[in-house]
Amino acid sequence: MSHPTPARFLKALLACAILLSSYAGAAEKAAAPLAHVTILATGGTIAGSGATTTTTVGYTAATVGVERLIAAVPELAKVAQVKGEQVFQIASENMSNEHWLVLAKRVNTLLAQSDVDGIVITHGTDTLEETAYFLDLVVKSRKPVVLVGAMRPGTALSADGPINLYNAVLLAASQEAVGKGVLVAMNDQIHGARDVTKTNTSTPDSFKTPELGMLGYFQGNKPYFYHASTRKHTVDTEFDVSKLDALPQVDIVYGYANVNPVALNALVGAGAKGIIHAGVGDGSLAAKVLPSLTAARKQGVLIVRSARVGQGIVARNGEANDDELDFVVSDTLNPQKARILLMLALTRTNDSKDIQRMFYTY
Ligand code: DGL
Repeated sequence: MSHPTPARFLKALLACAILLSSYAGAAEKAAAPLAHVTILATGGTIAGSGATTTTTVGYTAATVGVERLIAAVPELAKVAQVKGEQVFQIASENMSNEHWLVLAKRVNTLLAQSDVDGIVITHGTDTLEETAYFLDLVVKSRKPVVLVGAMRPGTALSADGPINLYNAVLLAASQEAVGKGVLVAMNDQIHGARDVTKTNTSTPDSFKTPELGMLGYFQGNKPYFYHASTRKHTVDTEFDVSKLDALPQVDIVYGYANVNPVALNALVGAGAKGIIHAGVGDGSLAAKVLPSLTAARKQGVLIVRSARVGQGIVARNGEANDDELDFVVSDTLNPQKARILLMLALTRTNDSKDIQRMFYTY
């Protein structure tokens, strides 16, 4: 019988060592504890129900509780240790500044806990982009916060809520999402809070980030990022709502042919501290509304020129002499998001130049 030479003995030893380390690695991976994700439920279609399986419009939003949402997706237990909290149960067209302050404080309290690794917020899609951007500016943690909704109620054929919720929890439990700002998980896509918007009244592909681009995809139980936001968010913002019980009143007026300044005058008369003007084209101001805007500015109301078109940069001193009028431009923020940033800006300053800086920073 030939005795194993030292070289053959060493080779066998090495092979055993490699085999053992790969088993150990696999065992370690398998045993890695799942991330702790808290689901904060606020209502919307993802919690909605319809009379029949083909009812995809005319259903009732905000009827299903968070525990039933979680129970409807048992696969969640494979990707995270999930807990649910019913923060509100509303259709999101009724979301208010007060709801946002309650939600933001709850999110920050939970994320400060070492036993919470990420948060998912189930939400109606109508104002989902607004809540996402508000949180993007006031959450004080790098841990993932993911908003998710559905375009079809859970009772409908091919309901999109369960897979959207699964993807959202997968994302909130992932390392890839850390430090990316508040995210939106819809239709197998990952969007950033600042630039995502609802583009269709009812189809499942409604959420898009036109021109500036979504951040990534979900595929095969994994999130894949291809972009990241270039604007400051979460821990890098100057906004802190922890001690606030209210936000300054900021309203939006719409530009259109033959525009009537009555609505603008009424909003200023009702005490608006800021006005977002959703202008035609590059944020243009009709001659009919300019006197009302300049009068409001003289009263100390902050005026932001945004645009109703949805994409593109509103050029400062382009369609109006902003330097002379002491107006601010919204950069690329749509009117509903410009309102959010102006509200938070007014909790810090009334200085129009400092506020313009904020619109070029966030
Ligand atoms: N009422 C709408 C809302 O709660 C339903 C739309 C939806 O959630 O998709 O936003």
